[in-house]
Amino acid sequence: MKEQLIKPAAKLRGEITLPGDKSISHRALILSSIADGDCRITGLSNAKDVKNTKQCLQALGVSIKENESAVTVHGRGMDGLKESSKILDAGNSGTTLRLLAGVLAAQNFTSTITGDESLQKRPMRRIIEPLELMGAEIDSNTFKAPLKIRGNLLRAIDYASPVASAQVKSCILLAGLYAKGITRITEPSGSRNHTELMLKEFQASIQFSAGMAGVKGPFQLKATDINIPGDISAAAFFLVAGCLLKDSEIILPNVGVNPTRTGILDALIGMNAFIQTEDNVVVNNEAREKLITRSVDLSPAHLSGSIIPRIIDEIPILAIAATQANGSTTIKDAGELRVKESDRITTVVENLKKMKANVREIKDGMIIEGPTPLKGAEIDSFGDHRIAMAFSIAGLLAEGETLIKNTDCVDTSFPGFYDSLESLRHD
Ligand code: S3P
Repeated sequence: MKEQLIKPAAKLRGEITLPGDKSISHRALILSSIADGDCRITGLSNAKDVKNTKQCLQALGVSIKENESAVTVHGRGMDGLKESSKILDAGNSGTTLRLLAGVLAAQNFTSTITGDESLQKRPMRRIIEPLELMGAEIDSNTFKAPLKIRGNLLRAIDYASPVASAQVKSCILLAGLYAKGITRITEPSGSRNHTELMLKEFQASIQFSAGMAGVKGPFQLKATDINIPGDISAAAFFLVAGCLLKDSEIILPNVGVNPTRTGILDALIGMNAFIQTEDNVVVNNEAREKLITRSVDLSPAHLSGSIIPRIIDEIPILAIAATQANGSTTIKDAGELRVKESDRITTVVENLKKMKANVREIKDGMIIEGPTPLKGAEIDSFGDHRIAMAFSIAGLLAEGETLIKNTDCVDTSFPGFYDSLESLRHD
């Protein structure tokens, strides 16, 4: 297992290129696979999670060709997927498993889809229940993967999801493409809307607003080309590092700034961060911008309610920022963190305590008192990419060296993270 030694940094300065947005990349591969012709995708993420989606689709008979500038998917049409001769493996990726389940539920064959040890522990009842209401037949290991999905003719449903989850919403919308009538889903607060925006690009009949989406089926998606912006969840580590390390300036061109994802910018600006935005352009309904961040003294934050789904993947790095803010930061209503790649409430709190931060775990979040000087420590990533990267940034600020154990997982979302970090370092 790989490990990474992080030495304190004086400052970070320069410009880096981020990987393509992971959420949008999964959707581009899946939608183009069931579209009616060739789709050229540029800016696709090179993350391992996205490779898992690609391999699952290839196992279902989709031809996907790559060259240096683009990935071309030969869409097989709504009913053109083929039964896989092997078990589909989503690896560590909840998005791969949950979104593909929506498509598999509508095929005229049976599929089994599973994932790694972490994914096999994550809740799947949230997709099994609505898919069964639509007519799918699914066997599971008490509502966990592996899932054996016997495809069926689906019926449209009107579904109130108990969780704000873009994976659940997208799973149902994908199944809804195959069902006769309008499949509608509501959620307690608005989650990321990349599926809705991309379905529009593929000309589906879709209506949506924050917390609601409805799609009319059956519908054959029309092939289109997709360009993917840089991943704001990857940008988050550098935005926080730039704020915290004195005399830093980090330039991040072409970052996706879809408003359902920009909670990290709202949270940091609310903490007094300096984030300059330039060059706003919209391509394929997705806005993108150059972000420039400089070091400042941070104020504490109170994060709860509807911002939580908009910062759900950024809470580990926001917790690191909070250790340096001047006062008490509270993070509440974030119980969903307990069912991510690790229980991110426990893994953040345990590791912050090792670095001598003043932090208290609560049922649905944490309370962090700042500012506290962090001390170098041995950190366990628990196989969770966002924990490994968040604590690597913490290590730059700490007194002494920090050893991050089990860093192979960084490739899940951001291969090249450590090279980017080193390229910015000015000691
Ligand atoms: C994602 C949705 C979120 C997020 C995950 C990616 C997506 O998960 O945490 O990293 O691409 O739809 P939930 O839908 O479980 O909240």
